[in-house]
Amino acid sequence: MTQSATPGKLNPLNLKAIESQLALCPSLPSLSSINKALQGLLHAEQRYSAQISEIIRRDPSLTSRLLRLVNSVYYGLSTPVNSIEEAVFYLGMRQIRQLTMVTPIIEDFQRLTRQCNFPWRDFWQHSIGTAILTREVMTAVQAPLDDSDYVAGLVHDVGKIVMAWSFPDHFAEIHRLALEATRDLTEIEIEVLGMDHAELGALYLERHRLPELMIRTARFHHHPEKAGEHATIVASVQIADLLLRSEKIGCSGNYLPVTSEQCLAADGWKVLFPDAQEEEQSMARASLHRSLERLPHILEGLV
Ligand SMILES: [Fe+2]
Ligand SMILES: [Fe+2]
Repeated sequence: MTQSATPGKLNPLNLKAIESQLALCPSLPSLSSINKALQGLLHAEQRYSAQISEIIRRDPSLTSRLLRLVNSVYYGLSTPVNSIEEAVFYLGMRQIRQLTMVTPIIEDFQRLTRQCNFPWRDFWQHSIGTAILTREVMTAVQAPLDDSDYVAGLVHDVGKIVMAWSFPDHFAEIHRLALEATRDLTEIEIEVLGMDHAELGALYLERHRLPELMIRTARFHHHPEKAGEHATIVASVQIADLLLRSEKIGCSGNYLPVTSEQCLAADGWKVLFPDAQEEEQSMARASLHRSLERLPHILEGLV
């Protein structure tokens, strides 16, 4: 296949061409520091909340995000929440921890994607929504939680950001075709660029030596049955991703509608419930639907 683009026509690229372009894509410092941040805050209990408040106060963008979040989640409060301590009280440590992880990643990502014409705000809602819902899926199937599931959900579509930065013309053409909503995004990506966002994201994360869990989530989030040792988290990400798309919360860039039958038939369920426990599955689904209803409110406050 020829690599030289004829004017006005884009050619798909081979692996070597993709990799050399990918090498120019800057690393995201937030992703490398995330494990450290996780460790530091992981065991923080309520008694540390004064310390946490102090850390938050030093970061103006985190502060405003936090206050926006608490005021939109608790929108019925007679007086809006204005102080960090109050916000910490209302949201609890878990949400604060998640927010401290999310904010730098999103800001890094936003710097990368400034130039491209794409509904990025809706895309952040998709990414954060997937992170929140991945946690809910893990809870519903009683899988152990350690916050890494949250990060996995957040970065599952990192390949789209990398694609927008490294291959802006291909990315724009893919978005144009995706808007027709007649074909799946990955099919269009392979046709136009020569690689889909899942593989591209995984190559990028590998290049920057990020944890295996993130790499596998990026690579296999459409095929969690192939994810090996991290299959439970990756399957939870797949379910979260499909539920958000079927409920049209945020925008992943994949405009092909997802039906509830497709959500039910996802391979992720087989990974999470290998023995086809019907009753447990439907209980898990019912609790997920309650979470889905709350989600748009939370996302409005966050992004
Ligand atoms: Fe995806
Ligand atoms: Fe997604």
